Amino acid sequence: MTIAHGFAAHKASGKWESFDFELPPLGSSDVEIAVESCGICHSDMSMLDNAWGFTQYPFVGGHEVIGRVAATGDAVPGLMIGDLVGLGWYCRSCMHCDQCIGGNHNLCFAVQGTITHQAGGFADRVRCHWGWATKIPNGLDPSKCGPLLCGGVTVFNPLLQNNILPTAKVAVIGIGGLGHMAIMFAKAWGCEVTAISRSRSKESEARELGAHHYIASGETGALESVASKFDLIINTTDAPLPWDAYMATLAPKGKLHTVGAAAKVEAAVFPMITGQKSLSSSPLGSIATTRIMLEFAARHQINPVTEVYPMTEINDAFEKLRNGSPRYRLVLSRSLL
Ligand SMILES: NC(=O)c1ccc[n+]([C@@H]2O[C@H](COP(=O)([O-])OP(=O)(O)OC[C@H]3O[C@@H](n4cnc5c(N)ncnc54)[C@H](OP(=O)(O)O)[C@@H]3O)[C@@H](O)[C@H]2O)c1
Ligand SMILES: [Zn+2]
Ligand SMILES: [Zn+2]
Repeated sequence: MTIAHGFAAHKASGKWESFDFELPPLGSSDVEIAVESCGICHSDMSMLDNAWGFTQYPFVGGHEVIGRVAATGDAVPGLMIGDLVGLGWYCRSCMHCDQCIGGNHNLCFAVQGTITHQAGGFADRVRCHWGWATKIPNGLDPSKCGPLLCGGVTVFNPLLQNNILPTAKVAVIGIGGLGHMAIMFAKAWGCEVTAISRSRSKESEARELGAHHYIASGETGALESVASKFDLIINTTDAPLPWDAYMATLAPKGKLHTVGAAAKVEAAVFPMITGQKSLSSSPLGSIATTRIMLEFAARHQINPVTEVYPMTEINDAFEKLRNGSPRYRLVLSRSLL
């Protein structure tokens, strides 16, 4: 029997408390990861708050894990005890449906989440199917790269899925955890990048991350100044936005791609018809896309900008995410304990 030591919330929006829990017997295709660090995604806060209505308590969050393989089931290929791996939002998929066989494991109907179907990475141990434990390539800083496993692949995937060319003009709405990585990925992809934030407060940092242009969406005439410009907008906010105004900033054939978990997207259809524009969305990325993303990040030195807290200070970190303005991804470290 393996006992994991972590942090759990016992009610919606509750405080994280020290929590020991028993892990089930290790499945033959599973690996156990000794957690070194874990990023905090906005989705962890949405789950903590039961904002999506399916959180089960006690709830152990955490799905931007970096750690070392500590145990392997007897049918695990390619991973050895001690390997440095990352684990994101998904921890298991069936591996035999059309989507899995087609390389779209993130679209598997039986896909399971690291914090929705089991206890997550705010603990010393976390489990997953071997396929979802991705080796961390040389060249990435393990203390910083955890956020690539959820936030990073979520904003990288739209560049691949939409066949974005390096000549494209890409806008990123919301310069938070996902948004700051989206700027870096789109810049490294070769695109002209516009950061769109609510105010001017993040302008110099966004430009340092690689944004060529910066729009403060709260200023009068801000969106009108970029009419018909973008080939792709990656929206990373979960807020109700002026969707028609954003649709008007798309060039013909442009796409408004929402990865932020907004409750609803509403846009007038006629401008979409006449400009052949589209609305789209996507979950994380497949196993293959995660590997490609990590290699791309290592090659281009895309390191998330992080603020690191010891895992024991998890409540302070969540307070910062809720009421502060993290720059740009909070990471809980076990090595600082
Ligand atoms: N599709 C997926 O697979 C997937 C994966 C991971 C996360 N998500 C979702 O993606 C979203 C972003 O996650 P995150 O971790 O990047 O969150 P985050 O770090 O909190 O950043 C969100 C950003 O949205 C902007 N924002 C916040 N409130 C806003 C408002 N009322 N109106 C307009 N903009 C607002 C802010 O940017 P500015 O200050 O620059 O305006 C903020 O920094 C969440 O909804 C999360 O659940 C989806
Ligand atoms: Zn996430
Ligand atoms: Zn499947």
